[in-house]
Amino acid sequence: MKIIKTKDYNEMSLKAASMIAAQVILKPNCVLGLATGSTPLGTYEKLVEWCNNGHVDFSDVVTFNLDEYLGLDPSHDQSYRYYMNNNLFNKINIKIENTHVPSGVTTNIEEECANYDKMISDYGGIDLQLLGIGHDGHIGFNEPSDHFEKGTHCVTLTEETIKANSRFFESIDLVPKKAITMGMLSIMQAKKIVLVASGDDKKEILKKALFGPITPKVPASILQLHPDCTVITPISL
Ligand code: GLP
Repeated sequence: MKIIKTKDYNEMSLKAASMIAAQVILKPNCVLGLATGSTPLGTYEKLVEWCNNGHVDFSDVVTFNLDEYLGLDPSHDQSYRYYMNNNLFNKINIKIENTHVPSGVTTNIEEECANYDKMISDYGGIDLQLLGIGHDGHIGFNEPSDHFEKGTHCVTLTEETIKANSRFFESIDLVPKKAITMGMLSIMQAKKIVLVASGDDKKEILKKALFGPITPKVPASILQLHPDCTVITPISL
């Protein structure tokens, strides 16, 4: 695992965006795994800028997002589909049909999850997966558990995650209690992983994930086993 310490959030975003841009330039039809949350916003801003000034071309890129809240329609302003359209997809030259986010309003969760995994594998897997990290060590919405879940699946969010994400909703009661998330297999099979983390509130969990025991109680700790994982962070560890 490679750790890049940056001077601030802006430099973190710049470096993460540079790695993604390099991936797209080297393989224009690459498959990107994308994340939501507040941390990657700066990364997406840079990519938008570089696409608009002609430096990066997303016209053949395919994307798979990590997760989606169960019960939120794509038009809901807190759905992850809405977030991705608003912060990235509608601002770059990607074909919207090449972008994938699990459906939060599916009537058949099992089928939705199985199809999601099949689509990822039909595209040959993910070339570069961007990740954030939750306060409890979750990646995507893979919450602490007694085992690592392999495939895309439905999860019940922890109280801690619901509380952390309530800042985006009018009230904590409006935060969905469940989500669909990519499992550990698609994430770990990504050829390259880039994890961004910022803010002192992430310091303890980041230390545990990077240097502590590998355990499903700290889902991000599995990344220690990945052959090409880069952590970019302004946090002093
Ligand atoms: C959410 C997302 C994760 C994200 C995490 C951290 O729960 N499902 O993919 O990494 O929050 O978000 P933030 O970057 O806002 O701290």
